[in-house]
Amino acid sequence: MVSTKGKSLEGLLTEFRRFYPSTDFKNNAYITSEEIFKKAEKDPEGFWATYASELTWYKKWEKVLDWDPPHSKWFVGGEINVCYNCVDRHIKNGRRNKAAIIWEGEPGDTKTLTYWDLYREVNKFANVLKKLGVNKGDRVAIYMPMIPEAVIAMLACARIGAIHMAVFGGFSSEALRDRINDCKAKLLITADGGYRRGSLIPLKHDSDYAVKDTPSIENVLIIKRGEFPLRIKKGKDFWWHELADEVDPYCEPESMNSDDSLFILYTSGTTGKPKGVVHSTGGYLTGAYTTSKLIFDMKDQDVFWCTADIGWITGHSYIVYGPLAVGATLFMYEGAPDWPEMDRYWRIIDKYGITIFYTAPTAIRAFMKAGAELIAPYSLETLRLLGSVGEPINPEAWIWYYTNIGKKRCPIVDTWWQTETGMIMITTLPGYHTMKPGHSGFPFPGVSIDILNESGNPVEPDEGGYLVLKQPWPSMLKGIYGDEEKYLEKYWGKWGGKYYFTGDGARRDSEGYLMLLGRVDDVLSIAGHRIGTMEVESALVSHPSVAEAAVVGITHEITGQAIVAFIVLRDNIDKDFDLEDSIREHVSKKIGPIAKPRKVIFSSELPKTRSGKIMRRLLKDIAEGKVLGDTTTLTEPEVIDNLKKQYEVIES
Ligand code: WT7
Repeated sequence: MVSTKGKSLEGLLTEFRRFYPSTDFKNNAYITSEEIFKKAEKDPEGFWATYASELTWYKKWEKVLDWDPPHSKWFVGGEINVCYNCVDRHIKNGRRNKAAIIWEGEPGDTKTLTYWDLYREVNKFANVLKKLGVNKGDRVAIYMPMIPEAVIAMLACARIGAIHMAVFGGFSSEALRDRINDCKAKLLITADGGYRRGSLIPLKHDSDYAVKDTPSIENVLIIKRGEFPLRIKKGKDFWWHELADEVDPYCEPESMNSDDSLFILYTSGTTGKPKGVVHSTGGYLTGAYTTSKLIFDMKDQDVFWCTADIGWITGHSYIVYGPLAVGATLFMYEGAPDWPEMDRYWRIIDKYGITIFYTAPTAIRAFMKAGAELIAPYSLETLRLLGSVGEPINPEAWIWYYTNIGKKRCPIVDTWWQTETGMIMITTLPGYHTMKPGHSGFPFPGVSIDILNESGNPVEPDEGGYLVLKQPWPSMLKGIYGDEEKYLEKYWGKWGGKYYFTGDGARRDSEGYLMLLGRVDDVLSIAGHRIGTMEVESALVSHPSVAEAAVVGITHEITGQAIVAFIVLRDNIDKDFDLEDSIREHVSKKIGPIAKPRKVIFSSELPKTRSGKIMRRLLKDIAEGKVLGDTTTLTEPEVIDNLKKQYEVIES
């Protein structure tokens, strides 16, 4: 039952623990007071304009915002080039010899590019694109491993005004083909291959399958990563290093209108056909730049590591555009966190002196499962700030991260945002706010949110509801490529075009802290109570034997739905008879009998999307017996793998 008045989602979890940034952190942080929030609230457009002014524009805007709901244009009349701001600017402002990208390949090879190196490579790359017939406004597909050339390729597109469309290197050739066909990309940039968990991923070989069914692709540009078997089609396939020798070393950046498209990125969330989210130039860069600087408190001496892949929005905004616009040093790693051992990340942090580390809850929970002993040999002393993104971080995982990785010294920013928002929208500011585990924090200055019930009225403090965005923000998506109807329906349909609907549930406590409750599609409905997945899962993860949990509601004749919990135990825990009962009781004690799972299913892992989000839909089918007969345990990883394959067809 969905209520029409009052709360639309329950609020069950209470968190009393508080954490504070150290005096040292506070003394050195960009933002240490409330002032910025006040300023932005009074004059949001002025606030964004201040930060946009820190970038270099060819022509200043005439108007900050043109809001024609549900489309916004930012810095109207302004002209800018994103690549110029991320690269050229820094070779003129004293950062010429500063490391822009420090990279480590999975086999252990490493490379450092200064801003000057990056400048040279990007210029040549841009000229190669032109040589291959790419013009301003053309779409360019990028299907690459995590190597510096992936960043170079994106920046080169931005330099000449071509629109890039990156596809995660772990996606199939079908996924690549469909995305290329949707946006009619002219060129595909790929590599001979990349390394992942000790194996070679033959990207060019896989691309060949895609390209045979993509009539729009005229050429394929290949980066040489290693010695991978591949076929070269004469007149169509070209090696980057060969063409690089034939072009001029300088390419004039294109002066772009602020509202021109910078890139398209496909997102499917956990359901449905992928949608091509389109981002702008001036507005997007302003959002990525401002949030990178203020939320990650990026300073010249920092080494910033965001563990995402460049195929996701996190890679776009917080590997490439945000950090480089700030002039930061970014670290980039090609491979898997558990290769060759589960300590690879900690090894990297100590070796390169990483100071800011940004990763996903799924990784944190995997480390938690493996145990803190793996971290013991490493000092991690250079770290000063930690971040989390992608899913709600359960309070226990938060505490684990804070204690074992941050050594109780580093603030954590739990950043909420989406592919569509382009930039972080909800977080704490690390030098100012007190942290509450499990709570993401506050809307970023200049961002305006609300939490509504089904009928579109704001809920009371501590009540759950639908998270909406009330005002446009600079890095707001321009729309869905070629599908205006989908844009209107998916994001603006629920309350007659008045609000942008995020699809997430949230609750705000009396101090204004926001807690994200999970996707509203996954909400449980127990005896008339609507409960977000986050709270029950957090209660489960706070049991000492549990590393990771996912809950789903299955049909129940009396209560409407009953909760089934899928549990991954921490390593070295024996599953004795009493464990299931003890876990169920624990939830009941922690958040109330209403949330007590009817059934607990132990599994060695949970099915996840390629970006690490739990696929609760699949678990629901399992729990309802639609996919598997006996569901008492799911200890074989292959079982999950096979099930996932059936779903990935839909997902990608
Ligand atoms: C969805 C967006 C944003 C970059 C990576 C994912 C969930 C994201 C958090 C967080 C709770 C979060 C939401 C959101 N999400 N960050 N800190 N706390 N939930 O981008 O694939 O577009 O996914 O991820 O459900 O709507 P995305």
